[in-house]
Amino acid sequence: MYKEVMSGALVGVDGHMVTVEVDLSNGFPRFDIVGLPDNAVKESTDRVRTAIKNSEFDFPMERITINLAPADLRKEGSGYDLAIAIGILLGKETIKTGATSGVLILGELSLSGGIRSVNGILPMIDSAIKAGIRKCIVPLINAQEAAVVEDMEVYGVKHLREVVDFLNGELELEAIKVNLESIFRGQQSIYPYDFKDVKGQASVRRALEVAAAGMHNVMMIGPPGSGKTMMAKRLPSILPSVSFEESIDITKIYSVSGKMKGGQPLVVTRPFRSPHHTISNAALIGGGTVPKPGEISLAHNGVLFLDELPEFAKNVIEVLRQPLEEGEVTISRVNSTIDYPAKFMMVCSMNPCPCGYYPNVEKCTCSPHQIKRYLNKVSGPLLDRIDLHIEASTIDFNAINSADYGETSANMMKRVLESQKVQIERHHKLGITYNAHLRAKDIDEICVLDDPSKAMMKFAFEKMGLSARAYHRILKVSRTIADLDHSEVIKENHVAEAIQYRTLDRKYWNR
Ligand SMILES: Nc1ncnc2c1ncn2[C@@H]1O[C@H](COP(=O)(O)OP(=O)(O)O)[C@@H](O)[C@H]1O
Ligand SMILES: [Mg+2]
Repeated sequence: MYKEVMSGALVGVDGHMVTVEVDLSNGFPRFDIVGLPDNAVKESTDRVRTAIKNSEFDFPMERITINLAPADLRKEGSGYDLAIAIGILLGKETIKTGATSGVLILGELSLSGGIRSVNGILPMIDSAIKAGIRKCIVPLINAQEAAVVEDMEVYGVKHLREVVDFLNGELELEAIKVNLESIFRGQQSIYPYDFKDVKGQASVRRALEVAAAGMHNVMMIGPPGSGKTMMAKRLPSILPSVSFEESIDITKIYSVSGKMKGGQPLVVTRPFRSPHHTISNAALIGGGTVPKPGEISLAHNGVLFLDELPEFAKNVIEVLRQPLEEGEVTISRVNSTIDYPAKFMMVCSMNPCPCGYYPNVEKCTCSPHQIKRYLNKVSGPLLDRIDLHIEASTIDFNAINSADYGETSANMMKRVLESQKVQIERHHKLGITYNAHLRAKDIDEICVLDDPSKAMMKFAFEKMGLSARAYHRILKVSRTIADLDHSEVIKENHVAEAIQYRTLDRKYWNR
C-alpha cells in the first residue's frame, strides 16, 4: 500500500515542499526513513510509533518505508512526525483514502499523540501557497502564524486523534483567521525609553536622528558615562513602525529561529538587538550544527547595537564586513550554503581608550601604545562601512543639573517619518526603502549635488583621501540630511554635515 502526504522543509528562511511517501508491505516488521533525514528526523520512528499506539490506533506490523522527497534536500528537525503518522494511518485505511489530498501537514508528535509546535511555519506555508496548496493542518500554537498567509485555509490541532477525526469528517474544526489590521494597530505600544531624558548632547542626538531617517550605520565614541548606551537604547523610539512586507521578512527569521512567542502571528516591532561582547562568531552571524540565524539576522530590518565595540573579539566583529555590504550572510555547510537576510542598521559605541578618557590628557592614564592597540581593534575596513562617526563629549554640570529636558522622541520621530515618506516615494521603483540601501548604480540618479556642493565634495575627496566606498556613503548620508531638510537637491550645508561625520577616523585612528 502506497500513500503520499504533503509536508514542508526549510532551507535558510525559505520553505520547500516535501512529499512524504509511505509504503506498507508484507515482510519482517521494520520502520525506515530515507531521503536525507538528519538525526531528529530518524528519531521520528520512535515518536510516531508510540504516538499512534497511545492514540489507540493500530500500528501496522508490516514493513514500513518512508521516503522524504525530493531526496537531495536535507531534512532537519521534527516537523515531519505528523505527516508520517498520517501517511501510515492512510496506509492502514484508518483515514479515508483521499482525505489528505491537497493538504499540507506539519507538526511534531509527543509520545502521547499530542502535537507540538514546529519552527519555520510562515516560510513553509508561504511556499505552499506558491505551490498551489490552499489548506493546511498545523500545530494549534502555530496556527495564527500560518493564517497570516492570505488564501490559506488553516486548521490548528492539538492531538493526533483530532486530526484523524477531522480528516475522516467526524469532527468539525473552524479555520483559523487573523485580523492583520488589529495586529498592526496594536504595535503602537509605548516604548519605555524616551530621548527627552537625555540632557545636552545635541550633536549626538542629531546624528542619531539622521541615522534613523536613512537607516545609516553609526558609531558613537566618547568617555564613559557620557550617555552613549543611554542614547542608543532610545533609538527604537524614533524608528518608524515596520511595514507589512518588513514584518513578514522579520517574522520568517524569528519563526525559523524558534523565537515566536506562543500564538504570536507576526513580529510587528522593529528589532533592536544588543548582543553581549562575549558573543561567539556563530551566535552573531548564524550557523551551528543545526543552523540558526544569528543576531545580525535577528536584527534584519532593525538595529544591531554593539555596545563597547572594541571589547568584542576582533575576529567576531570582522565577520560583519560581508553582511554590512550585502545585506545578507552566507553560511557554509558541509555540502551546501545557506543565506540568511541580514540588512540591519549597525549602531556601535566605544570608549576611545582602555581608561576611557583619551584625548583628555589630564584624565587619561593610558600609554600611547595602549590607546593605539585599543583603537586598532576596530579595523579600517569596518570603520569605512560606518556612515556616521560621532563624538559624545563629557556632559558638564550645568547641563546635567538643568531642569531643561531634551526634545521628545515623538518630535524627533515626526521629522524622521517625513523624510521617510520622501524616501519611500522616490525609491519605489528601485525596490528599496531607505537611503542607506541605495546601490552604487542608483546613487548618480538619486543623490544629485548642486555645483557648490559638488565642489565641496571634490575638495573633501582629495584632501581626506576618501575611498570610493566612503564617498558613496557620504553621498547617501547627504541625501538623508537633504531629505530631513525637505530639499530635492543636495546643497552645500548637507554635504558639509555628512563629511563632518567622517572626520573622527582621522582624529582617532589617523586614517
Ligand atoms: N546626557 C545625559 N543626560 C542625562 N543623563 C545622562 C546623560 N549621560 C549620562 N547620563 C546618566 O549616566 C548614566 C550612564 O550613561 P551611559 O549611557 O551608560 O554612558 P556610556 O555608555 O557613555 O558609558 C545614564 O544611565 C544616565 O543616568
Ligand atoms: Mg555604555
